[in-house]
Amino acid sequence: DTTSPDTTVSATTGDTGQPSGPWTSIRLPPYLVPTHYVVDLRPVLEPDSTGKYWFNGTSEAKFIVAQPTNYIYIHSNKLSYSKVEVRDSSNAVVPKTAHWLYDVNQYLVVELVEQMVGGGEYSLLTEFQGELADDLGGLYRSSYINSAGNQVVIATTQMQPTDARKAFPCFDEPALKATFDISLSHKPPYFALSNTPNNPPIPPQTPAGEYTKTKFKRTVKMSTYLLAFVVCDFDFVESQTTSGTQTRIYARPQQIAAGNANYSAGITPKILEYFEGYFNVSYPLAKSGDKEFIHLLYHLCFHSWSNYQQFLFLYSILPQPILHMDQFVVSDLQRALNVDGLVSSRPIVAENVNTPSDINALFDTISYSKGACIIRMINQFAGEAAFKLGLENYLKEYAYGPVNHTQLFAFWSDAIDTTGGQNPTNSFATAMQSWTLQMGNPVVTLTRGGSGVVATQQRFLLDPNADKSQPPSPFGYIWTVPLWYSTQSDPSVKLTWMYPNQDTTLTGVASSDYIIGNYGGFGYYLVNYDNDNWMKIIDQLNNDYTKIEAKTRGQLIYDSFSLARAGELHYNISLSLTEFLKSDFYYVPWESGLDSLGYLDQMLGRSKVYGVYSSYLLSLVEPLYQNVTWVDGGSHLDQYQRVNAIWTACSYGHLDCITNAMTQFNQWKTTGNNNITANLRTSVYCNAVRYGGSDNWDFLWGKYQVESNSQEKAKLEYGLSCTRSPWVVRRFLDFIVANDSAVRKQDASSVFQDLCYNEYARDITWDFLRGNWDFIYGVYGTGFFSFSGIISSCTSHFSTQFELQELEAFKAENADQLGSGVSSVDQALEKTKTNIQWRADYEDIVFAWLSDRVVSP
Ligand SMILES: *[C@@H]1O[C@H](CO)[C@@H](O)[C@H](O)[C@H]1NC(C)=O
Ligand SMILES: *[C@@H]1O[C@H](CO)[C@@H](O)[C@H](O)[C@H]1NC(C)=O
Ligand SMILES: *[C@@H]1O[C@H](CO)[C@@H](O)[C@H](O)[C@H]1NC(C)=O
Ligand SMILES: *[C@@H]1O[C@H](CO)[C@@H](O)[C@H](O)[C@H]1NC(C)=O
Ligand SMILES: *[C@@H]1O[C@H](CO)[C@@H](O)[C@H](O)[C@H]1NC(C)=O
Ligand SMILES: *[C@@H]1O[C@H](CO)[C@@H](O)[C@H](O)[C@H]1NC(C)=O
Ligand SMILES: *[C@@H]1O[C@H](CO)[C@@H](O)[C@H](O)[C@H]1NC(C)=O
Ligand SMILES: *[C@@H]1O[C@H](CO)[C@@H](O)[C@H](O)[C@H]1NC(C)=O
Repeated sequence: DTTSPDTTVSATTGDTGQPSGPWTSIRLPPYLVPTHYVVDLRPVLEPDSTGKYWFNGTSEAKFIVAQPTNYIYIHSNKLSYSKVEVRDSSNAVVPKTAHWLYDVNQYLVVELVEQMVGGGEYSLLTEFQGELADDLGGLYRSSYINSAGNQVVIATTQMQPTDARKAFPCFDEPALKATFDISLSHKPPYFALSNTPNNPPIPPQTPAGEYTKTKFKRTVKMSTYLLAFVVCDFDFVESQTTSGTQTRIYARPQQIAAGNANYSAGITPKILEYFEGYFNVSYPLAKSGDKEFIHLLYHLCFHSWSNYQQFLFLYSILPQPILHMDQFVVSDLQRALNVDGLVSSRPIVAENVNTPSDINALFDTISYSKGACIIRMINQFAGEAAFKLGLENYLKEYAYGPVNHTQLFAFWSDAIDTTGGQNPTNSFATAMQSWTLQMGNPVVTLTRGGSGVVATQQRFLLDPNADKSQPPSPFGYIWTVPLWYSTQSDPSVKLTWMYPNQDTTLTGVASSDYIIGNYGGFGYYLVNYDNDNWMKIIDQLNNDYTKIEAKTRGQLIYDSFSLARAGELHYNISLSLTEFLKSDFYYVPWESGLDSLGYLDQMLGRSKVYGVYSSYLLSLVEPLYQNVTWVDGGSHLDQYQRVNAIWTACSYGHLDCITNAMTQFNQWKTTGNNNITANLRTSVYCNAVRYGGSDNWDFLWGKYQVESNSQEKAKLEYGLSCTRSPWVVRRFLDFIVANDSAVRKQDASSVFQDLCYNEYARDITWDFLRGNWDFIYGVYGTGFFSFSGIISSCTSHFSTQFELQELEAFKAENADQLGSGVSSVDQALEKTKTNIQWRADYEDIVFAWLSDRVVSP
């Protein structure tokens, strides 16, 4: 009965309320403008008689009505209502005809008897209940094993990107910012945390077993997805910024006792000081005068440029930078280019956002890594002073909301003028929109022409058969390119802009010199050359690689393998570009090399080429393996490099490496003391399981179940995935899905992915996932990031017609059960077709090149 005041039509029965009306739009109405929320939540941390957990809530959402309307619709997901009431600004009840849930768009819709007055302020008051499920979305349940061995249930939140609506009804779009008065009920010894300090700061004494309420101070005006609450019994470590702002890191009591939070506690005040200093604005959620506030580190959200800021920040504060800036080239640049080389990529600024799943997909590599790359490119040509000034002015005006690129670009352009720099002649905005509003990236080709070196550009696509003009782009797949380059006899880095529909010729390059484009790896593009130039670069690398800086050495390898894969460069050249790695022990070239060769590894894993391929890899890594030794130490990059070297050597069967790993593992097994250095544990565990018996697996499984440190647990988890025994794989899969307490739900998707990296386990794992997809989809839901990861990891090696047909069948069977994995399946299909073609085109060429260089085993 939809007219009864306090009855909600349940959408779970398939009835989604009135068929037509404004609520069928995916976007909220522009004429309802939220101003303030009062939200009270009570997570019940004990199960009901059926074993389910619940939370109760009340909320008041205040909003201004910009134009007269009979309808209120507001986001609400998986909540059931016992009261829905509308009041006007004098607190009088506004009569309604009905309310119902429109599940398609996750709305609660209220229909009023009469129109609300334009310009008036109204409140929507609700009482509701939701399941406190362990589904990682909205307000959800998590648990851990305490030092007494008992399971402790806690409540926590994950609002980003669109799950605040699963905790309470709200206008859940980032631009609809409001202030929030949050309160949480809990029983001692549990306590509550949120974005702001509680008010009063110390909760009153409450007898155990009774609920007490913690009220939090009003937040600044902010987006719903930035909200965070926790009800837990954690301990904390405290520290302060130099200006006296107190910070606390909360963690499970065992973690605090073990000192595992000490590092974060030390670094958090520095992060806050850095951002306050860098942007000259104070931390968003700390109001002036508040000297104490609670800081939940992982919710510190700095939008799409956070990756790049992390690097800059760590670079600036640490005397020995933890993450050397060079690493950006492999961690973000190459990662983003890998995705953007596919036809199924998308622009950073997306337009076709139609469903909640589409919104989830926006929190992906393109938003994060490509966004960071474009910003880093801007930083490089604008200069640090202009970059900082532009951001600072932008934040003063538009702090705390989602980034509006148009406005940000205008601030940067002005800042470049102010600091005396040079904007691109076709304007900053025009130049940069070619990168943000259009998908993909160009390959710049440098070839000798009459009067110098001619630079041309073309869209880059990994698939050699793809239509380079599709889907249509308003920019026609032409970019305004900041071209950095250097030459053999003049190593200084020069910048020239390439404009659409204009020829670019680089003069003054000696004819005997090689030229290298994108020197320094700041540009978001690939570079190709004529064969003669490539050969000169290869000679230089083989004779003295130090003449070319490390990021660029890495980028040369990466570019050449991408180009070869796309059919734009002969594989002989890219393979020849790896030979200098025998003497180069630096991290970035090796990481790029291993990543680039990773594709060959996947394609060749089940072919006759694998023998010579393994021998070649072993010959490349041997000097590095001898150099790094098993003794831990050195800079962070040295340590990463040791991990790479030992990982690679053991994987391709290096006897000394395997012996070492086995010895260390057996020592642990027999003495009970784990003396394996933290960095090498993943390698040791994995190889002990890979080359050892199932007793090694059982030993690790025992450790996995009692381990409470999440980093160590992840290493054990990876080790477990390395087995080569089909029956052990199958048993592990059963353990994952059958027993809730053995592998936590939030870990399950990474275990599936780990298994799919193991070529002995991937077919069994994929068959298992495919065969149980209904169940997997039901258990793991749609709200989290994991489906795309599982699909892409488990299909990355697909390279036969049979596998293609299998994947197409999978897509057809599960069309409505792919959640955020929809675009991953399309990408997987595209990749599989390309892989089939690749093997037909290149397997023999690679075999010939490798056979010439190694003695066949
Ligand atoms: C939560 O709400 C339900 C339904 O209104 C009620 O039966 C239950 O007692 C409430 N639980 C708590 C702990 O307040
Ligand atoms: C962690 O920090 C606390 C407080 O500074 C200190 O008492 C404790 O010894 C530290 N623990 C470790 C393992 O470093
Ligand atoms: C920070 O901003 C304040 C007020 O806007 C200004 O007076 C001050 O000079 C700025 N400081 C720096 C270091 O830019
Ligand atoms: C971004 O800002 C521009 C200029 O102020 C405005 O025209 C545009 O609508 C804004 N875009 C979004 C998505 O808010
Ligand atoms: C490893 O290589 C570096 C750089 O070439 C060298 O300084 C170091 O002595 C080498 N270490 C070993 C153990 O060979
Ligand atoms: C291993 O570590 C334990 C303490 O954790 C120590 O007593 C023992 O001497 C170490 N053994 C070796 C071989 O380093
Ligand atoms: C689930 O796993 C735990 C830990 O391994 C074990 O103690 C328990 O007996 C298992 N339960 C079932 C139903 O298999
Ligand atoms: C590629 O290398 C192989 C093996 O060294 C050689 O036989 C072949 O001629 C080379 N092809 C080209 C086009 O250079």
